[in-house]
Amino acid sequence: MNAHARTPAVAAPAPLIDPFGRTISYLRVSVTDRCDFRCVYCMSEHMQFLPRRDLLTLEELDRLCSAFVARGTKKLRITGGEPLVRHDVTKLFRALSRHLASGALEELTLTTNASQLSRFAGELADCGVRRVNVSLDTLDPDRFRALTRTGAHEQVLAGIAAARAAGLKVKLNVVALKGVNEEEFVPLVRFAHAGGMDMTFIEVMPLGELDGPERADQYLPMQAVRDRLSEAFTLDEIDDRTGGPARYMRARETGGRIGFITPLTHNFCESCNRVRVTCTGTLYMCLGQEDAADLRAPLRESADDGLLHQAIETAILRKPKGHDFVIDRTATAPAVSRHMSMTGG
Ligand code: 5AD
Ligand code: SF4
Repeated sequence: MNAHARTPAVAAPAPLIDPFGRTISYLRVSVTDRCDFRCVYCMSEHMQFLPRRDLLTLEELDRLCSAFVARGTKKLRITGGEPLVRHDVTKLFRALSRHLASGALEELTLTTNASQLSRFAGELADCGVRRVNVSLDTLDPDRFRALTRTGAHEQVLAGIAAARAAGLKVKLNVVALKGVNEEEFVPLVRFAHAGGMDMTFIEVMPLGELDGPERADQYLPMQAVRDRLSEAFTLDEIDDRTGGPARYMRARETGGRIGFITPLTHNFCESCNRVRVTCTGTLYMCLGQEDAADLRAPLRESADDGLLHQAIETAILRKPKGHDFVIDRTATAPAVSRHMSMTGG
């Protein structure tokens, strides 16, 4: 035997490929189920939040994300709840930024309600974050208060301004709500594009029990959003993809982009490259299915990541072909019982 053959093979970690040949390259991780807002379509007024011991620690979150990066994750999105209400969350961003520096990770980003962005934008930029998605459903302070139950509109606008001042690219997410913010779609697009921001409209999804208005009453199909926008803008199809499920159009009048996310009426599952992990370490292979794998036990069972990698591999082999969301007026329970704040937006 020559010396070469005796050297243990350090195999390059295998990429994660699901049974339908889709390579998993995008991980979304929720770092907390808590939020300082109580948006009516997302949470009930009196939410029971998880006991802190159930949450992954920041070190565990780092191990988990790093395991995915070692297996080919190129894009990492930190979500919640509201990720910036997690104590010391910037330590996690700081730790994860080493994967940007090494080139293993292409993008580190977050989805936020912007309430804390004035405080954190500079530090996030310093950790290599280049883009943030901000949820903003209305430009009207009173409506904002009604929709979020607790949110302060001016604080969010200040957060958006701080992000832009720190050099972060901001994309605004608007959940399209029938009879609530329909009138504002055009002004919201104007606001976004005037500030050089993309805007994405999202159909409301049937996630979690709510004590607010009935979900079927809030539901507005994306075509209705487009019809309304067409009254003010000439929309040209463009085939930009940002790695997510949004389809983009360009408004000729502003030159800006408008994305549409249609989880209910459009099937984008065939190109799905993503999985999600909750703040308790539960891996969901599909946003619209209940099947999940526990990654917290293997994380806590040993300091070595072997068990964790095994659990991830086994789970990816169960990634389903697609979801089957239905908003059904006769249904008494949501199609998926967990809230968005569990799985992350
Ligand atoms: N349907 C659609 N979007 C939702 N969000 C939260 N809950 C829902 C839901 N039930 C959105 C937030 C944010 C993103 C993370 O997900 O408004 O933009
Ligand atoms: Fe918080 Fe976002 Fe849910 Fe609103 S939608 S309650 S900001 S997590």
